[in-house]
Amino acid sequence: MGKKTEPIPGASDIFPAEVAEWLLLEAEARRVFGLYGYGEVRTPVMERTAVFERSIGEQTDVVQKEMYTFEDRGGRSLTLRPEGTAGIMRALVDNGIPQGDEKRVYYIGPMFRGERPAAGRKRQFHQIGAECVGTVAPETDIETIEMLMRYFDAIGIRNTRLLVNSRGTVADRPKIADTLAAYFGDHLDDICEDCRRRLESNVWRILDCKNEACGNIVTGAPAITDLLSAESRDFFQRACDRLDLLELPYTVDPRLVRGLDYYEHTVYEIAFDGIGAQNSLAGGGRYAIEVPGHNQVVHGTGFAIGMERIILARHELGVATAAGNGIDAYLVSIGEEAFAANMKLARDLRRQGFRIAMDLQGRGTKAQMRTANKLEAPVALIRGDDELGRDMIVCKNLSASEQLEVTIADLPAHLQSTVDARFAGAAHAEE
Ligand code: HAM
Repeated sequence: MGKKTEPIPGASDIFPAEVAEWLLLEAEARRVFGLYGYGEVRTPVMERTAVFERSIGEQTDVVQKEMYTFEDRGGRSLTLRPEGTAGIMRALVDNGIPQGDEKRVYYIGPMFRGERPAAGRKRQFHQIGAECVGTVAPETDIETIEMLMRYFDAIGIRNTRLLVNSRGTVADRPKIADTLAAYFGDHLDDICEDCRRRLESNVWRILDCKNEACGNIVTGAPAITDLLSAESRDFFQRACDRLDLLELPYTVDPRLVRGLDYYEHTVYEIAFDGIGAQNSLAGGGRYAIEVPGHNQVVHGTGFAIGMERIILARHELGVATAAGNGIDAYLVSIGEEAFAANMKLARDLRRQGFRIAMDLQGRGTKAQMRTANKLEAPVALIRGDDELGRDMIVCKNLSASEQLEVTIADLPAHLQSTVDARFAGAAHAEE
């Protein structure tokens, strides 16, 4: 055997047994977001670097330390997307969204950030996100939160905590920044070196520092909610009222600012305890983004969910993925004639929508049964000359070790009943 290739830190291979869960999570997102009028958008995984620098903010960790940036063949600076929102705004503006029109889109795909890998923190990770663009109303913020919670409900995620805050508008920023700077200026010796730098460059980012010592100082920082203009306070109050209206429990975290600079007004995170330090399953909020090359600021609201983290949370909660991943039956052939007949039977059953595997190398019965078990086939369909002559087949339930003979004509109905029974069992397990 050759030497193992050195793995890329923070990037994973995902094989069929796991992909089954990913597909289910993606399918549910498509179904739930569709209920709210969202359509899927697919944009390139790379964008011109300026698209991210400008919107996410030059002083954010993402832009300063985490982007995978490279020069392409034409000497352009390109970056692998660290998040979805900026590229989608670029795509919408490039394609001319009319001002004042509302546009609802969602996306599913890989994102790239050069962070230190840890449980729930990867360099290539995957997000499911949604953006509602073109209108400014706290009601839209809250409807997207309601959609996010509906999705979590659909995939069995519970015991989450919704944290909300407001960042106010651009006009509110100088006052907030000055107040924060005065406070942190009084604690210069207690904050990390990065934060001392942030005090000059972008004081908001101190609130987001992961350093424990800084965290203690941040706890005593002035609450942003106390520094908002009357207008912004009213916007936030309406958002909270709508959360109450839709019976969505939440906590106001007056120091929540999130790691990206494009936010204004409502911001939120969904926390889940029990999956380690990276406990934010999703984050989002309202934003104003200016796309380079266009004199247009796009207003929108949305969120992104970390797929790796919701998978960790589902496992922590013991949520079973619906049965029916893998195959429905494995065909076992005893003898040359049964083998040929089974090739046709496999074709016919697949045509009818069953997922079938069979041995095509003429191996012995024992080896075939071993493979059936290895593939976790719920059913083995066994045929030799005897069964072939009588137009019958043996159906062996591999988990219950029961077997019965059915006619070839009855086989599809019988197989369907085994599929239905498995789905019913899985649905029960998820309740
Ligand atoms: P974000 O908070 O940077 O927001 O990321 C959203 C979610 O992506 C996080 O809550 C987390 O679950 C997941 N995530 C982030 N970084 C990693 C990582 N290195 N490894 C694994 N999972 C990760 C955004 O990206 C915004 N674009 C969300 C948004 C959309 N705001 C408005 N619209």
